Amino acid sequence: MSALISGATGKVNAPTEERLPVTVPQLAERKHLGQPLVMVTCYDYPSARIVEEAGVDLVLVGDTAAMTVLGYDSTVPVTVDELLVLVKAVRRGLSSPLLVGDLPFGSYEISNEQAIATAQRFVKEAGCDAVKLEGGGVMVDRAHAIAATGIPVVGHVGLTPQTATALGGFKAQARTAERAQQIIEHACSLEDAGCCLIVFEAIPAAVTEVAMEQLSVPVIGIGAGAATDGQVLVWHDLLGLYEWGSPRFVKRYAELRPQILDALCHYAGEVRSRSFPSIEYTYSIDPSELEELRARLAA
Ligand code: KIV
Repeated sequence: MSALISGATGKVNAPTEERLPVTVPQLAERKHLGQPLVMVTCYDYPSARIVEEAGVDLVLVGDTAAMTVLGYDSTVPVTVDELLVLVKAVRRGLSSPLLVGDLPFGSYEISNEQAIATAQRFVKEAGCDAVKLEGGGVMVDRAHAIAATGIPVVGHVGLTPQTATALGGFKAQARTAERAQQIIEHACSLEDAGCCLIVFEAIPAAVTEVAMEQLSVPVIGIGAGAATDGQVLVWHDLLGLYEWGSPRFVKRYAELRPQILDALCHYAGEVRSRSFPSIEYTYSIDPSELEELRARLAA
């Protein structure tokens, strides 16, 4: 469980207390203090309430919503409008964690103007504190352009699911010296472009260690080993909400799918056997009123 120390007051935030909002400057402070950052994805209001209570530091409404919530085959088809509905719901459930919205595929690559316009929608319409985009190269310009307008930007290198086809599929990256160097260079460029945080996904732990020596910006890992400044996991992976297996880097902290299935089967059985609703789940009416009702209907 994380505890956030406010630079201004020295107050320690515990999960059960009212917490102060996590701010962008605190991310660098936390790195400096060696306090790990806890991030999780989230896609709806009730989950956001639980995340808030758990004292998580950062919440990502990831474009993984495409697959985890909307049932698409990849993250590519999800639109800005679809994601904004989810971000707004999460925003309504959160007060202290820093809220990051994922810019979906096709919403920022064309030009800096397109990237700024989309980022502004995430902040203005949905209340995001920061936006995330994937990749290096020309995406560094996009990150710089967004950051220059005052919107905090999170970079994402390594396995970048929006362009997984070009990377050869959903598999670990940076497994050759050449590719590892390229990814580290992308991360350094994103830092220079003004990113406040960078996500490393599916990168060998030893490469992450080398990369961390080159970077001052806080780094959050997913499948990138223990050397990063924090970790992020996808909600459905962490809680075991799938019937199929998880990638190597996922630790399932619960197996909720069997419990949900069990509850639904139990409910269905009770409806079919008419044992639900029993008396304690029903409303009553004064017997004299019931008698009068019968009399009125019989008249
Ligand atoms: O979209 C997402 O959920 C992500 C995380 C896997 C980091 O980008």
